[in-house]
Amino acid sequence: MAVPFFDIRYNLGEAEKVQLLERWKGILDHGGFINGPEVQELESALASYLGVNHVVACSNGSDALVLALRAAGVSPGDEVILPAFTFFATAGAVSRIGATPVFADIDPDSYCLSADSVAELITNRTRALLPVHLYGRPADISALQTVAKDIPIVEDSAQAVGAVATEGPCGGLGLVAGFSCFPTKNLGACGDAGFVSTNDSQVAEHLRCLKEHGGGRQYYHDEVGFNFRHDTLQAAALLSRLPELPVYNAARAEGAEHYTQLLAEIGCTENDGPVRPASKHLGHVWHQFVCRIPGQRNELRAFLQERQIGSAVYYPLPLHLQPCFTHLGGTSGQLPESERAAQEVLALPIYPGVTSEQREEVVAGIAAFLGCKV
Ligand SMILES: Cc1ncc(COP(=O)(O)O)c(C=O)c1O
Repeated sequence: MAVPFFDIRYNLGEAEKVQLLERWKGILDHGGFINGPEVQELESALASYLGVNHVVACSNGSDALVLALRAAGVSPGDEVILPAFTFFATAGAVSRIGATPVFADIDPDSYCLSADSVAELITNRTRALLPVHLYGRPADISALQTVAKDIPIVEDSAQAVGAVATEGPCGGLGLVAGFSCFPTKNLGACGDAGFVSTNDSQVAEHLRCLKEHGGGRQYYHDEVGFNFRHDTLQAAALLSRLPELPVYNAARAEGAEHYTQLLAEIGCTENDGPVRPASKHLGHVWHQFVCRIPGQRNELRAFLQERQIGSAVYYPLPLHLQPCFTHLGGTSGQLPESERAAQEVLALPIYPGVTSEQREEVVAGIAAFLGCKV
């Protein structure tokens, strides 16, 4: 049985498609392709889903982070501390506004920004911390707040819509947060889309100006902003999917639980065995289900591929070693946990359409690779 890593068609069920076509027809009729009424409707729906005061919809998750950093006061020449083990856009957003990314290490258990590593990197130029709720697991915000003191925290929540930390929902833990609605995300649009969340009304107002070229009033500009507007057709797509998000996130959590159980049956737990599934966290939304395979990750991946079982590596090269950041002087061995994770992690199929039989097939493939019987 083939198990695709992801099936984009699962994003919209038949009933949601019918509803979405209706909504799209309405937009074709009213013609408000940019900033149409559906955009405000989406912002309100997302704010109440997340439990935050304000949501500002924008073009995509990368731009959402640029907006969030600018609204947090980050300017050219400032330093922003972020994990070296994340998607490129986290660091790209810092560079795009002329600030310097300062790469910190991750905690090996959560794969999120390590507060101990951050503590060693804070200088008088540090203007923000940018933790990532990687794979949908909330970062340890309390520990980061303790070391950050007054430095604002900007959350990269791109992979964590619906995730809840002990301190509260992701997106409301710091000053401001950026989310992605790239089609493969837990809440995926039918193209590029993203949004920013905050509990601070002044920050929200600033975000609204920044995403429309820095102008509060049309044709009058207090500062140079961006065109990061949200497409009304995408707002409609997200409105059609949002009511189903709790169901989809629950299906991901169920899938993660099942994989953990199946792997335990072949002697693989988070602390033991050749394939180590990620540890549990109650508020995790399992954007990815990742295992560590020390020493034989690439071999296992190739073996699974031969059996038509999809998997993926997020991410094979930490950011301090990326060629575009050579000028920052990153060296091999500098951030050992990020470098180790890049060598060891493998994501298994976890999108909500994966069946229990398919998960059994994936783990049977792993067992065959390891030479054990299931
Ligand atoms: C951690 C992280 N940050 C930022 C982004 C950027 O989002 P987008 O692709 O919508 O620009 C992504 C998307 O993959 C991401 O995973």
